[in-house]
Amino acid sequence: MYGNAYVDPNEKFSLEQETPELLAAFQERIDRGEKIEPKDWMPAMYRKQLIRMIEQHAHSEIIGSLPEGTWITRAPGFRRKLALMAKVQDEVGHAQLLYSAAETLGKSREAMMNDLITGKSKYSNIFNYPAKTWADSAVIAWLVDAGAIVNQLANSKGSYGPYCRALERICYEESFHLKYGHDNVVHLATGTSKQRQMVQEAMNRWWPPLMHFFGPSDKISVHTETLMRWKVKMASNDAMRQQFLNMYVPKIWDLGLTLPDPKLKKNEETGLWDYTEPDWDEFKRVINGDGPCNAERLAVRRMAEENGKWVANAIKSKQDEYVTPYA
Ligand code: COA
Repeated sequence: MYGNAYVDPNEKFSLEQETPELLAAFQERIDRGEKIEPKDWMPAMYRKQLIRMIEQHAHSEIIGSLPEGTWITRAPGFRRKLALMAKVQDEVGHAQLLYSAAETLGKSREAMMNDLITGKSKYSNIFNYPAKTWADSAVIAWLVDAGAIVNQLANSKGSYGPYCRALERICYEESFHLKYGHDNVVHLATGTSKQRQMVQEAMNRWWPPLMHFFGPSDKISVHTETLMRWKVKMASNDAMRQQFLNMYVPKIWDLGLTLPDPKLKKNEETGLWDYTEPDWDEFKRVINGDGPCNAERLAVRRMAEENGKWVANAIKSKQDEYVTPYA
């Protein structure tokens, strides 16, 4: 029986290693819609998959604060600066929630951080592109957060209790971010011709990474089938991409903006959106460390880790004191 021991997420596990009765009872709990909690029995594969996914999600939140963070000092006006600062702070808070959820599965925060800064762990493709203008930060806040909500709202109804609870809380904050981003995009799209041009160019830049954001198409996705059986993922990558297109393309077009895909249109027969297949080679390059900003993003994280080490050490030594006060 493997299930309840912490497993090294890099080790190979298969379901054949599990006790069949335990595995069947676990699947029944999932099928009944029960939540799995940290001390419950779970297959090693379920634990490993959750650690992988939640950890990547947590990394995405802290790395995700970097492209927008560069605009805090240059935001147009005090109110926008305040709002952006609050948003960036929220994103870092999301990472804290998600690291805590991943820790319940047995992997330490130090190990996760180490895997991020050494380039071993992945994080979302989308944060490896530069936010060149203020309009980029507006498009990120509106559409990246909209994409994140599509994903997180669905998965908050999933099977692992701590992850679902973290996602619920994150979704409340992301909904506010989305409104903030939408307000900024509307302001630019209804502004001067220079502002319209700026937001159109930002839209053109962010569209391909947004299409990648939901993950590879279902035909080539590796984990979807297993994760959906275990209700970790509540919809496939293509289903989430379609939901995003359905909700946001009409809103983008309503603003008089265009999208850089001549094939993009709703197919009235199928009810689904037709689009040009995203460039999956570029996606693979970016998620494997070779995007326009991967090196810069990790260098900033490494620097933050180095500079903050004395704080972490101070907290740790205080904790040790409390654990062994009379030693
Ligand atoms: N950015 C970076 N990597 C991605 C990705 C993306 N947008 N989409 C997929 N991948 C990676 C997967 O992590 C996986 O790599 P791995 O096996 O080395 O871990 C590989 O591409 C194959 O993809 P797939 O089998 O479809 O992965 P998945 O079933 O885990 O689905 C997500 C990908 C992003 C939909 C899923 O992991 C998810 O919902 N994650 C939580 C939400 C999240 O991380 N959001 C990020 C920003 S807010």
